[in-house]
Amino acid sequence: MKVGVLASGSGTNLQALIDAAARGEMGRARVVVVGANVPGCGALERAAQAGIPTFLRSHKDFAQREDFDHALLDELRRHGVGLVALAGFMRILTPTFLDAFPHRVVNIHPALLPSFPGVHAQKQAFDGGVRFSGCTVHFVDAGADTGPIIAQAVVPVLDGDDAEALRLRILAEEHRLYPAVIRAIAEGRVSVDGRRVHVRGAPVDLADGRLKSL
Ligand code: GAR
Repeated sequence: MKVGVLASGSGTNLQALIDAAARGEMGRARVVVVGANVPGCGALERAAQAGIPTFLRSHKDFAQREDFDHALLDELRRHGVGLVALAGFMRILTPTFLDAFPHRVVNIHPALLPSFPGVHAQKQAFDGGVRFSGCTVHFVDAGADTGPIIAQAVVPVLDGDDAEALRLRILAEEHRLYPAVIRAIAEGRVSVDGRRVHVRGAPVDLADGRLKSL
């Protein structure tokens, strides 16, 4: 399965996908193209370093959101992409884009959705005083971090943490969870039933709430 990654930032989740594929941990899934909307962002550099084709489309160059989305679609289609993975891509996609990839656009978010959607989710959670946070991989709909949840990983908030310590603890789980979910999708183990998503072969370790094999 050809995966197109869209990113805006440093690209550590993209790197996790690249590294997992290199270790043979992504099954048939592989990143074939990386698109970004921020010139010079780390994700573009990481893709180039890995020999993966890239494209840059700045949303600022388009009057309408739909026009920006069409430009992204053109590039992804040109590379035969079957799954789009948002990895720190800080734009809302319109139905123009989403209808072209039904249940084939996924996102990773650094909080246990539906708590703390939007930007600075880790700081929102830390400032909110939660004892546990984590990350969520979900299908993308037209809202901000509102689509059906595929998988989550939980981390504790420890005494002595600050928002940055929590961000890094969550990020480590993101790097583990995202490749596993994309592999499960590529292997046809993920099905959607309304808001509820089923992932076959994903036992949960109830001792600490962490997913074992996903
Ligand atoms: C990640 O923490 C990702 O979960 C978050 O942006 C960061 C990107 O880091 N995404 C969102 O907040 C989406 N709402 P990266 O560029 O190093 O992968």
